[in-house]
Formats: sequence, C-alpha cells, structure tokens
Amino acid sequence: MTNNPIISSPNKLKLGIFCTNGRGTAQHTLVPEANQQDWSLSLLTARAVDEAGYEAVVPFARWKGYLKDNPDHVSGYALDPFTWAAGIAQATRQVGIFVTSHAASMHPILAAKQTATIDHISNGRLTLNVVGGWNRPELEMFGAPLREHSQRYEHLAEWLGLVKRLWRSPDEFDHHGDFFDVVGGFSLPKPVQAGGPPIMNAGTSDRGRQFACEHADVCFIGLPSEDPKDVREGIASYKRIARETFGRDVQVWAHTFVVQRDTQQEADDYLEHYAVRHQDRRSVDALIEKTAQESNGLPREVLERVRDRFAAGAGGFPLVGTAEHIAAKLEMLSAAGLDGVLFTWVDYLDGIDRFNRQVLPLLEQAGLREPFPPLANRWDRHGAQAAVLPCG
Ligand SMILES: Cc1cc2nc3c(=O)[nH]c(=O)nc-3n(C[C@H](O)[C@H](O)[C@H](O)COP(=O)(O)O)c2cc1C
Repeated sequence: MTNNPIISSPNKLKLGIFCTNGRGTAQHTLVPEANQQDWSLSLLTARAVDEAGYEAVVPFARWKGYLKDNPDHVSGYALDPFTWAAGIAQATRQVGIFVTSHAASMHPILAAKQTATIDHISNGRLTLNVVGGWNRPELEMFGAPLREHSQRYEHLAEWLGLVKRLWRSPDEFDHHGDFFDVVGGFSLPKPVQAGGPPIMNAGTSDRGRQFACEHADVCFIGLPSEDPKDVREGIASYKRIARETFGRDVQVWAHTFVVQRDTQQEADDYLEHYAVRHQDRRSVDALIEKTAQESNGLPREVLERVRDRFAAGAGGFPLVGTAEHIAAKLEMLSAAGLDGVLFTWVDYLDGIDRFNRQVLPLLEQAGLREPFPPLANRWDRHGAQAAVLPCG
C-alpha cells in the first residue's frame, strides 16, 4: 500500500507538470506573456493538477543560467527544489511530488534527511530525481569541477547507494568508497515509503541510459522524433535494457510542451509567434552549445535540428493543436509504451484550465485515465489528512 500515485495510480497514462519552480520551460522566448514564475503560480498550478487527479509535479534543478555574460538571465531563475517541494507537499493532497538533486551539490546525509522530511510532509508522495550534472559553471561554484562523463555516473551511483542505505539501515554503518567516507552513518526518521521514495533519472547518453535502467524506477527521456516508430523504439530501448541487463521493470516518462487552441491554425500560429519569431536566440545558442559540449546525449546536428523545440519547451515533445489532436498524440505515446507525460506551457494556468476541460475527458473516453472523484470526498472516505490541509 502506497500513497505515491507514481506507483499506485490505476491510470494507463500518468500526467504531471514540469518546471513550475522557475519560468517553466519557456525560458527561450521573449514574448511578454511568458510566465514570470513566482511562488503563487507554483502553488496555483500544483493545486489545480492535484484537484484534477494528476500524478506528478516535477521541478528542475538549476544553480546558474546558461548565458556567461548575463548572470541574471531568466534561465538561471529556479526556486530550490527541496524547500519548494516541501511547500508544495503541504499545499496538496494526492499528487506525487518530486525533488531534483545534483549529486555533486549535496552530501548524501543531507539528501537522505531532507527527502525523508518531505516524504513525511507529503505522507509518502515523494519521488527523488537524481542528476549527475552537466552545466559546468553551476558545479564550479561549489568548488566541485564537473567530472569526466562516466565518472559522473560512478559518483552518482555511490551517492545514491548511500542515500538508500541511510533511508533503510536500522543500524549505524561505515562506508569507505571512491568518493565518500562515512563513519557511523545513520538517519532518522526513515521515509514514510517503505525502503524510501522511488528514484527518477534523466540520463540520455548510453552511459546515462544504463544508469537510469539500473537504478531508477522512472526513466525520464527526451523524444527527439515524432515518428511513432522512433518513439516506440526510444521508449522500448529503456525498458529492454532494464529487463535484459538488470532484471528490472522501469516506467518511462517524457516531457512535452502544449499549445492548445480551438483550431490547428491558431495553435501553429501561436507556436510560431513565441518559439520562432520571438525566440531568444542567444539563450538557445548557449543551451545547444553547452549540451553538445558536456552531455554525451544528442549529437550537435540533432540539437540544431530541434532548435525551435528548445525554444518552444526545452526540447519536449510537441502537443500543438486542438484538444482532439492533443488527445490523439497522447494516445499514440501511450500505445508506444509511455507510462507518464509531463506538460509545460507558456502560460501554465490558462493551459491547465483548457487541458482539464477539453483533453482530460477525451483521455477518459480513450481508456487512458479514469474519472477522478472530487478530493474532499476521497479524503472523507479514507479518513486521511483533510483537517490539516488548508487547500481552499
Ligand atoms: C527530461 C529531462 C529533464 C532534465 N532535468 C534536469 C534538471 O532539472 N537539472 C539538470 O541539471 N539536468 C537535467 N537534465 C539533464 C540530465 O539529467 C543529464 O544530466 C544530462 O542529460 C546529461 O547526461 P547524459 O550526458 O548522460 O545524457 C534533464 C534531462 C532530461 C532529458
């Protein structure tokens, strides 16, 4: 029995929102209506999806933006995922909450304690997204230079092993590894979720993919092609490595950007307006340059090919068109094996409202999701925490 909808949800296609702890993924557009994120918008979006039965609210982790000579560029604006997640956890009732941690920025003892704390605040709804890091200047601020690529994953594996041991061990333990020395390691309280929260990882390189398949419960992937065959193979490759190499089953999730309008033409026009005509080219250039240099994921020519997608929503899969078109795309992704999808919009509140009114019913008709009963009834029925959760 778990409260974490990432594990317990009956829905064939799980849903979540991504990057609401900063300016969404619309960090590369100059249109004035792009969200100036602040805490109240984080809160309103989290509550809107909590009430609608989504499974996930996922922040991104960012210590510094992309533009070397422009430190106050919006790409560097991100509320700290841990303290942010604690607030979101207290303000919501059923949705799954994520934190994202750069292993190099945080000692495993601190990570184990803070995640256990948020797991208590959320009553067992936390998932930990672990990141090896790739944006060199943000790690240099910690005096922790970005390691050689495969070493990042060795470090991350030892880091994660320690976090899990701290979550689980009833006794003190010593650990002497390649990266950490821990004497009398111990952490209390243990997380609410037995064995600790599920793990997410978004490695895209071959090494990153191996890591995700070995250690993560949820592999968070990019889908650079829209061709259903490529999509199916992209998802299957993770599930296959997990099963055949590591004897495990993993969920595979992907991120998207949504432009939903009454006609396809209106949606295409708005996409062109914010992601092409008003693209922040310096910002996209910097992102492509860094990703090509520091990640072994997508090659530079693929990154260049999906340039407008970076501007539209951090390289996410496009969901652009009418409610019917978007629902059909989601059906395709689900049929291709995707377990969960995260959404971003230029304007999240407007986007969530349109999506919940027009697309959710279509997903229910298609059998991808069950109707979600009003939360008040749910909590009354199960006698859980309603009294301490001021969600009105
Ligand atoms: C969907 C997605 C979300 C990611 N979120 C973050 C993030 O919040 N912070 C971060 O520093 N890196 C993030 N990354 C980067 C990856 O975790 C990983 O570090 C990067 O892809 C480089 O690793 P690789 O070369 O093994 O692919 C994300 C990647 C993907 C595909």
